[in-house]
Amino acid sequence: MLLEWKAFASCSAGAIHLFIIVLLTLEYMHVPATAIVAVPSSNCYTFDNDNHLVDFTYLVGQNFEYNEEGSVPSDLVVQLCKDVQRRSQAGYISFGRFISSHSFLTGSEPIDYIQRFHNGDLVNCETTFKKMGRTAQVNIICGQCSNKVCKDEHGCICSVSYDERMCRVVAELAIPCAQSGPRVFKGFTVGFHPRSSEVVYNGLTQLGFEQLHHEFSFQSEQIHTSLYLSAMSSLSGLVGKPTFKVNPLKGLDVMLTGSGANGAMPTTLSPTVLTVNWRCEIIRSSPYEVNVSIPVSGYDPIEFTLTKKCDYTQERESVPMRGWATFGIISCIFIVMSSLLCCGGFIYKTRVEHQYGLDALPGMTIMSAFLDAVGRPRGYLQAGDPNGNHASQASWVNTSGPTPAAQRTNDRRYGTI
Ligand SMILES: *[C@@H]1O[C@H](CO)[C@@H](O)[C@H](O)[C@H]1NC(C)=O
Repeated sequence: MLLEWKAFASCSAGAIHLFIIVLLTLEYMHVPATAIVAVPSSNCYTFDNDNHLVDFTYLVGQNFEYNEEGSVPSDLVVQLCKDVQRRSQAGYISFGRFISSHSFLTGSEPIDYIQRFHNGDLVNCETTFKKMGRTAQVNIICGQCSNKVCKDEHGCICSVSYDERMCRVVAELAIPCAQSGPRVFKGFTVGFHPRSSEVVYNGLTQLGFEQLHHEFSFQSEQIHTSLYLSAMSSLSGLVGKPTFKVNPLKGLDVMLTGSGANGAMPTTLSPTVLTVNWRCEIIRSSPYEVNVSIPVSGYDPIEFTLTKKCDYTQERESVPMRGWATFGIISCIFIVMSSLLCCGGFIYKTRVEHQYGLDALPGMTIMSAFLDAVGRPRGYLQAGDPNGNHASQASWVNTSGPTPAAQRTNDRRYGTI
């Protein structure tokens, strides 16, 4: 009875283990399916305090107006990710334009994000820093103003303040903010050259490589493509080993090589190289799709899509490699055989012919005969001459060389020239 219970208990424990393993596997398989960290379709995006992408593309150009009461009634109009203007009966005054996502910053409590606008109207603001003209800063608060409740559900401007002789305006804007997106590995780049970033810039996969685009395909004849990876040195240890997926599965032979393929640490100063070797095995009218994924611990993986045409099939490129391998093996055999013969000869000579020392080395008789023929004594004398290397007139004269007469005639001959 007890035994049966034990068996039952261990069996159910096993089942639970299996169940957990299945769950974990499912979870693991689920992870790479996260959205690709692609650059948003507009420059209206920024990052939250934890480097998650926040895309405000849906708000580009959205108008927010603020009525300023005073001696001259006017409106301050903020067009998100576009420009800031002051409108009155006297006309429009530009307080700057939004130029790139570099002007969209992360704020600090209670401000969530900051948008900067530059190069507004210069009139009466000629003395501004670097002649930037009028500028504006929009402090974005996700949610409600602290001083009032917005009537519009899309948000409103809470307050406006001017400084530096009306050349700069700071507006506080409350809006319902976008959900944070994937966690971006900032500073990471992938390009086709050591300092370039066509494929991935600042951790964001660039347009054209975020999904299948036929117009960017690599040609059939290109059998290698090198990609250069770089990351901020302080974070380079987080970069893992790249993987890839090909669609359709059969027909394109893909192999990743280079320092980047083993998960070597890429830094800004020394990028790693990830070489994609691809060979067409089956002709196909539309290009093959190769998804490369680079895991980064603690961040969403870097993913990009490359496409490759296959107008004709290609031979395996291993022929020259095989040639070198054969050469290596033959050299190895030759070296081993020579050492064996040499040792064997030495042992034979010492044991059977009773010769010792240098004389016992195979081929030594031939060697000494050769040295004799060449003329050993003269060679040694030359090398032993202490003044031999000083080619000055005095040393030539003082040297008691083997043929002083010949040298003297030489000297005399040079002297006459
Ligand atoms: C490659 O990535 C794209 C974009 O994320 C996706 O739509 C596609 O299904 C992926 N293809 C393969 C073979 O994984």
